[in-house]
Amino acid sequence: MCGIVGYIGKRDAYPVLVKGLKRLEYRGYDSAGIALINNQHQLNVYKTKGKVSDLEQFVENKDISGNIGIAHTRWATHGEPSQINAHPHHSSSGNLALIHNGIIENYATLKERLQRKGVAFKSNTDTEVLVQLIEYIQISNKLDTLIALQLALREVIGAYAIALLDKRHPDTILVARKSSPLVVGIGEDEFFLGSDATPIVEYTDKVVYLEDNEIGIIRRGQELKVVDLNNVKMNPEVQTIEMNLGQLEKGGYPHFMLKEIFEQPDCINDCMRGRVNIESTNVALSAVIDHKDKLLNARRFIILACGTSWHAGLIGKQLLESFCRIPVEVEYASEFRYRNPVIGPEDVVIAISQSGETADTLAAVQLAKDCGAFIYGICNVVGSSIARATHTGSYIHVGPEIGVASTKAFTGQVTVLTMLALALAKEKGTIDQQEFLGIVQELNLIPAKMKQVLSKNQAIAELSRIFTYAHNFLYLGRGYNYPVALEGALKLKEISYIHAEGYPAAEMKHGPIALIDTEMPAVVIATKNAMYEKIISNIQEIKARKGKVIALVSEGDKEIAAIADDCIEIPKTIECLEPLITTIPLQLLAYHIAVCKGKDVDQPRNLAKSVTVE
Ligand code: AGP
Repeated sequence: MCGIVGYIGKRDAYPVLVKGLKRLEYRGYDSAGIALINNQHQLNVYKTKGKVSDLEQFVENKDISGNIGIAHTRWATHGEPSQINAHPHHSSSGNLALIHNGIIENYATLKERLQRKGVAFKSNTDTEVLVQLIEYIQISNKLDTLIALQLALREVIGAYAIALLDKRHPDTILVARKSSPLVVGIGEDEFFLGSDATPIVEYTDKVVYLEDNEIGIIRRGQELKVVDLNNVKMNPEVQTIEMNLGQLEKGGYPHFMLKEIFEQPDCINDCMRGRVNIESTNVALSAVIDHKDKLLNARRFIILACGTSWHAGLIGKQLLESFCRIPVEVEYASEFRYRNPVIGPEDVVIAISQSGETADTLAAVQLAKDCGAFIYGICNVVGSSIARATHTGSYIHVGPEIGVASTKAFTGQVTVLTMLALALAKEKGTIDQQEFLGIVQELNLIPAKMKQVLSKNQAIAELSRIFTYAHNFLYLGRGYNYPVALEGALKLKEISYIHAEGYPAAEMKHGPIALIDTEMPAVVIATKNAMYEKIISNIQEIKARKGKVIALVSEGDKEIAAIADDCIEIPKTIECLEPLITTIPLQLLAYHIAVCKGKDVDQPRNLAKSVTVE
């Protein structure tokens, strides 16, 4: 999704801005642009379709001087990806330059009104409408830029994080947010700006997250001032962030996705640290301790999420229902928010989101909150909008996830859901002590077992080469591994652009079996658990129709090895923890197939890391 970077201070702004844009590349984008005010108070705007590297080429031999600037990566919503639609957008006079994340929903009405007053537009974007509106209000009422901005934003319906330069005020950047994140980094006599903290961390760990309807006035040599849309002074809270630069680099891996797949054993340890005790006898989540009554007395849980996080939610349902005996519904946040759901104060919503910025999930949380439900967040990004909108929650603590295809966040989410189910079941007395201890002890062994699976990377890479020809894939699993099949299929389609469908294995005979032929490989999760015999029958059904089977089997399995075309052996574990292990070979399979096909693994086409628009 779009990215924002800004700088004001003593350094040359250009290198800071370009580096920041590169750090935001993981969000996905189609064009990039930059605006700088030089020492002669000229405002230079450069933009181009394509990557940040294209922008760098474009500015060669151009004036990129100045200690103040804003920069943007755009992910098209209104108007095709093109140079003209890229940000920053100028006002007609050329005095103002604006960058914007989000969507101005009433842009068409505002544009028509401005056109009637004679304002001409160059682009098809909602952003240009906003910058022209600010200027129109400013000129017609002879106002200063801040007041004009406040009046303009009061007319706007929609979501925005914006940064505005005015060449008549070369020592000021104005920023504002509503429903789209914006972070101001505070350094020594300098400020940094980011749509998340990623472009800021290498300069400072002191940040202010702007709240909705707040405007930040960033002036050289002064303290950050924050006001609301009525010019009432606000008191911003300066926070210290813990992210470090090493977490943002590829660390020797060719892609962030591969690095993140390999980080999973450490991530799961980080996620459990301080929560699962050393002796493996207890699970403690502070949110469960603080809100025990609310959670234990829930009429039901409703899990709301999108994409991969929704798949983790499907596993959470099985864990919570099985151990806590509380009914659980899992819904796509995008559907929930537009229904008229039956929900009230007796319900507990679990909102799952890696980024904590997914617009649909955030809106669904808001709706559930308005209906009186208690909201438990499971997020990765600390201080993100969803994390802040919830009553309580547990961070997954897996570190920044840069690859657009989510990997370590999924296993982190499943780990938190497992700990949540165990902690609640213990409190509720719905789990036998021996079973509880067995699962907790096994949970502690998961990172080591993940490493065993990762050691098969080379073999999986070789296997992947055979399957690059396929145009379709089927992923099958049952029980806890059914959501894993969905997740495996999503990974493959996201990064290799091969059509893939995930199904509960037993459902195959109700339709998808018609697709099976020699050209249709099926990935079957066939570990030795309660469903083992049934899944063997499903494999037989595929083989009888000449389908190719890649089976994920438990170590030492000879029976499936005899019928499947290829097998990936994985270490045995307790059935409810299997998703933490079975997911990894599927991530690697998708990764290597995409690499073989020469695809852009970390920034697949059309996808954005955090989907901050609906
Ligand atoms: C996962 O690989 C995806 N890119 C996507 O489905 C993602 O999980 C979804 O957009 C939800 O994101 P969130 O977890 O940040 O809310």
